[in-house]
Amino acid sequence: MAKIVYVEFDGTQHSVDVAQGATLMEGARNAAIPGIEGDCGGACACSTCHVYVDPDWVARLPGVEPMEEDMLDFAYAPRAGLSRLTCQIEVTDAMDGLVVHLPERQL
Ligand code: FES
Repeated sequence: MAKIVYVEFDGTQHSVDVAQGATLMEGARNAAIPGIEGDCGGACACSTCHVYVDPDWVARLPGVEPMEEDMLDFAYAPRAGLSRLTCQIEVTDAMDGLVVHLPERQL
């Protein structure tokens, strides 16, 4: 279990306990966080689960696989080095306190 902080574009914070092995997208969806849509259900085929990882956490997350990198090209306003697809990040206990910022909108 890890506490994940999802920050909406307007600054609203949601602190959510996410089980180890669930993805960041599933954690947001299960908690009904607005702004993470996950239209493809986690298949890395839509980019509607896009977030910006807090800079303090970027190096502590697993790297971006080529398929995620390709799909990020279709995300709204991606930021190099910070943008991730939440369906591609499985939560571990070591991610306790992770902060992710939602974009203004999803495409
Ligand atoms: Fe579609 Fe993440 S849910 S790419």
